[in-house]
Amino acid sequence: MSRVMVVSIGPGNVDYISQKAKERLEQSDFVLGSRRQIEDVRSICSVTTEFYVYKKITEIKEVVEKEQKKKISILVSGDSGYYSLVPYLKKVLREEFDIIPGLSSFQYLFSKIGENWQDFFIGSVHGRKLDYIQKFREENRGLVLLTDEENNPKQIAKNLWEAGFREVDIIVGENLSYQEENISYYKIEDWEIMPERFEMNVCIYRKGEENAYL
Ligand SMILES: C[S@@+](CC[C@H](N)C(=O)[O-])C[C@H]1O[C@@H](n2cnc3c(N)ncnc32)[C@H](O)[C@@H]1O
Repeated sequence: MSRVMVVSIGPGNVDYISQKAKERLEQSDFVLGSRRQIEDVRSICSVTTEFYVYKKITEIKEVVEKEQKKKISILVSGDSGYYSLVPYLKKVLREEFDIIPGLSSFQYLFSKIGENWQDFFIGSVHGRKLDYIQKFREENRGLVLLTDEENNPKQIAKNLWEAGFREVDIIVGENLSYQEENISYYKIEDWEIMPERFEMNVCIYRKGEENAYL
């Protein structure tokens, strides 16, 4: 097992962290993550574990190189295979690392709504461009998106509405797996009543049975 491990911690509540991830965290000398991630896992780490909250991702490389003798875990939220730090770490870390997979926020949300996700386009507009109108037109059941303040759930709903889509359900999952979890449902024609801001969320735009298009 590598000295450096990327550990997927799932949507946040420790009940959804894998046994493998728990064991690794218990044995880690040094755990790096965001403030929220570290708070999420603190209770399952050893009393001797040191924590490092990074503000910029460039700090990770510095810490990994400085703490040469330590068994290090780098936390990623949800699953490591969905918009995580892994591609960045592959580029900058000189040392090999292994990865422990986890449950993604979107997988958790689909379980809550009792549906399968394999026919949805799984993407993100969090700080990145995506032609989601084109993606929505393509052959799939809809979209799953990580959003940000600018490309927020309401703005995306408005743009889909203005592009002529009808019969679309919108499901916004905020703070999933935490006590403050909130899952809200909207119809696309009601996009105007959607809040301007949502807390940490993953969003589903699901085509209706008829897949109506104006
Ligand atoms: C850097 S991305 C990583 C996604 C992660 N790898 C996953 O599989 O869910 C972080 C974004 O995931 C979403 N996210 C992560 N955990 C969440 C949760 N518990 N509830 C709602 N959204 C969450 C939020 O949109 C957050 O801004």
